[in-house]
Amino acid sequence: MKNIDSKTHVRGESVYLDDIPLIEGTLFACVFDSPIAYGKLRSIDTYEAENSLGVVKVIIASDLIGENQIGGVVPDEPLLADGEVHFQGMPIAIVLAESEELARKAAKKITADIEPLEPVTDPRVAAANGDLIVPPKKFIMGDCETAFAECEHVFSGLTEQNGQEHLYIETQGAYAVPTEDASIKVYSSTQGPTAVQRAVCRVTGLPMHRVEVDVQRLGGGFGGKEDQANAWASICAVGAQLTKRPVKYALHRMEDMRMTGKRHPYSSDYKIGLTKDLKIIAYEVTFYQNAGASADLSPPVLERTLFHATNSYFIPNVTATAYSCRTNLPPNTAFRGFGGPQGMFVIEAAIVHAAEKLGVSAADIQRNNLIDDGDEFPYGQKAESDAITSWTQGDAEFNFARLQKEADDFNAESKYFKKGVAMMPVCFGISFTKTPMNQARSLVHVYTDGSVAVSTGAVEMGQGVNTKIAQVAAKVFGLPIDKVKIHTTNTLRIANTSPTAASAAADLNGKATQMACETIRDRLFDVAKGLVEAEAVENLSLEDGHVYRNGDRTSLDWKTLVMDAHLQRVNLSEHAHYATPGINFDWSTAKGHPFAYHVYGTAIVGVTVDCLRGRYEVDYVKCCHDFGSSMNTAVDNGQIEGGIVQGLGWMTMEEVVYDDAGKLRSNALSTYKVPDIHSVPKEIAILPLQTNRENLAVLNSKAVGEPPLMYGMGAYFAIRNAIKAFTECSPEFDAPFTPEKVLMNLYSE
Ligand code: MTE
Ligand code: HPA
Ligand code: MOS
Repeated sequence: MKNIDSKTHVRGESVYLDDIPLIEGTLFACVFDSPIAYGKLRSIDTYEAENSLGVVKVIIASDLIGENQIGGVVPDEPLLADGEVHFQGMPIAIVLAESEELARKAAKKITADIEPLEPVTDPRVAAANGDLIVPPKKFIMGDCETAFAECEHVFSGLTEQNGQEHLYIETQGAYAVPTEDASIKVYSSTQGPTAVQRAVCRVTGLPMHRVEVDVQRLGGGFGGKEDQANAWASICAVGAQLTKRPVKYALHRMEDMRMTGKRHPYSSDYKIGLTKDLKIIAYEVTFYQNAGASADLSPPVLERTLFHATNSYFIPNVTATAYSCRTNLPPNTAFRGFGGPQGMFVIEAAIVHAAEKLGVSAADIQRNNLIDDGDEFPYGQKAESDAITSWTQGDAEFNFARLQKEADDFNAESKYFKKGVAMMPVCFGISFTKTPMNQARSLVHVYTDGSVAVSTGAVEMGQGVNTKIAQVAAKVFGLPIDKVKIHTTNTLRIANTSPTAASAAADLNGKATQMACETIRDRLFDVAKGLVEAEAVENLSLEDGHVYRNGDRTSLDWKTLVMDAHLQRVNLSEHAHYATPGINFDWSTAKGHPFAYHVYGTAIVGVTVDCLRGRYEVDYVKCCHDFGSSMNTAVDNGQIEGGIVQGLGWMTMEEVVYDDAGKLRSNALSTYKVPDIHSVPKEIAILPLQTNRENLAVLNSKAVGEPPLMYGMGAYFAIRNAIKAFTECSPEFDAPFTPEKVLMNLYSE
C-alpha cells in the first residue's frame, strides 16, 4: 500500500507552509540575531531599520505584551535577547516589512552594542564550572565497585560524539493571522502544535482557546521541530498581535542552520569490566551532554541517553551518570533517537575497546551479552527481549562469519583498499519517557455520503503516519482507503497534543483512531442488525463497502447504512482518547516501567576504505528488524532506509563545527556534508522479524521511526576495522569518522 501522499508529492501539489496562499496585507518577518556567542547586551539601535523602505515595525524584548519566554521544559529561554546574549544566532529584534526582501535588508541595518564575555563551548568545562541545566541524573543497578573487583578484564576510556544538523528539506517557519476578537490562527511547520500554542500564548498573553495552530504537513522534522518551531511561530504571532496584520517568516537555510540547535554532542567516560568468559558484569559511564545555552529538550534527551546506556545488553552492575552542560551554543534539541544513540555509542565503543585488547571479535562480546527475556534493564523494567532472535535470524540469513571472511580474504589480496565489517545490535524503548505524554486523541466523522474524515494529534512529516491512520480507519469500516481523508493537525479539533515524536505517533494516534472508529462501527451495527435481520451484532462485519452477516455479503451497503443511521438520529462522530496502559517511571528511585515495549534489531555493516585517500564506501547494511507486524511495508522499509542513511551520515561525514568563539563554521551546505545518493549503501537488506507479544501497538505493529538510525552507527565501527586491517593503530573514539580523520589514522604512526 502506497503512501497516501505520494501522488501529490510527485506532482508538486502537496501543501507545505510556503505553499499557503497569503492574505493581502501580509507582512514578512526577519530576525536580527546575535553576532557573538556570549555578552552583555548594552543597547540596540533599530533607528535606521525602522526608517527603511517597507518597514512597518521593529520589535524588541520590551515590546512584548506577554512574557519574554518560550522555554518548554525549563523557563530559561527568552524569545528575544534582553540584557544578555547567550549564543551566536540568538534572536534580538524582529523586523516586519512589506516583503521578505525588504525585511532582510532592513534587519542588516540593526546594530547592537554587546560587551563580549568569554564563551564556553566545551561541556566538560561547563560541568567543571558547575554550569548545569538540571541536576545530574543517575541510574544504578547492582554494585559496580564490587563487580569491578571481581572482573578479569577492566578497560576504560573516553568517547566524543559530535552533533548533527537536522537539515529537514523544509526550513523552520510560520504564518500567523490575526482573527476576530483578539485571536490568532498560526500555521506552523511544527511537530508539536500544542507546544507552539503554549509558546504563542505565553508571549502574547492570550489564553489557549484564542490561539489556533494548524499543521498540514512538514517537509521533515527529525526532532528539530519538536520544540524549536516555537520561536518562529511566536515571532509571527507577536508581530500579528502588534500590527494586526498577518505575519509570515520562513527561514533561509543559512538562518536556520545558524539559529537553531542540533543533535547534542556528547563527551563521555566509560569503564567496562568482563569475566574471563567475556561476560560484561560491570559498566560505569559518565555522559557530558552539550546542551547549548538553554534547556530546550536537553533534560529528557539526557534521560533517554541513560535509558539506552546499555543498548541491547544485559549488564548486572551499572552506574550511569549524566550531566546536561550549559554552553554558549544554540540550544541543542531532539534528533531522531533523542539521546539514545549517544548512549549506545559509548557502550559499543567500550566493547570494541575490550575486544581489541583481548584479541577477540567485538561480535563475540556483543553476542555473549545480549539481553534475554526477563533480564532487567538498569531502570528496573524487565525485558521482553527479541535481541537474541534478531541477532540469530539476521546471522542465519546474512552470515556474519562469511562476510567477515570475505573481508579478510579481500584484505589479504588488496594493499590499498581494505574492508571492514561490524555488527550493530539495537534496542530502543517505545513511549515518551515522561509517562503523561503517552496519550492521544482522534476525531472521526462519518458523513452522510459515506466518506470519513479523521483528525488526530499526529503530524505528517514524511514518515507516513497519515497513511497508517487512514489504513486503520479503512480497516475498521471495511472501506477502500480513498474513502478516508486525514485532515490537518489542528488544536481546535484535537487539543492538548503530545508532539509527534518518540516514534510513537502512529501507535498513539492510530489506537485512538481505532477506538473512535470502533465506537461508530458498533453504533452502525446496532442499526444494521435490524436492517439485515441478524440475530446478534456479533454476526456482523464490514468489508469492501458492505455489511456481512455470518461471513456472507448482504445487499446492505455502507452508504445506505450510514444514511439510515443518520435518519435514525445515530451519532456518526466520535472523539476518542487513548493512553498507553501499564507504563510508569519514578525519578526518585530512577526505576519503573517506562516503555510499552522495545524494538529490537541487528545490522551487519560492511565498508571499503580507500587507504590512499581516506575515502570510504558503505557496501551494505543488512539488518534483521523487529516490526511486530508491519502495517505498511513500503512505509516501514522507507523509514529503515532513511534512518540508516541519516545514522551513517551522523557517524561518518556530517561535521558540525563551532569555533572557540562559538561561531558556527559549518553554516551552509558547502561546508556541511550530508549523505547524498552516492553515499547510500550499495545494498540495504531488510529481513523482517515478526514478533508477537501481548503489548504491541495498533494492529500488532511496532514503532519504526527512530530505531533504524542506530544501524547506521555500525558504519563507524566497520571503518575502524578497515583502518586496522591497513595499519596497526588505535583510533580514538571520536565520531564522526570523516575522510580526514580516517586518513590521519591510516598514517598516524
Ligand atoms: N521520517 C521522515 N520522512 N521525516 C521525519 O521528519 N522524523 C523521525 C521519524 N522518521 C522523520 C521521519 C523522528 S525523529 C520520529 S520521532 C518519528 O519519525 C516520528 O514519527 P512517528 O512517531 O510517526 O514514527
Ligand atoms: N522522545 C521524544 N521526544 C520526547 C520524549 C521522548 O522520550 N520525551 C519528551 N519528548
Ligand atoms: Mo523524534 S527525535 O522523537 O522527533
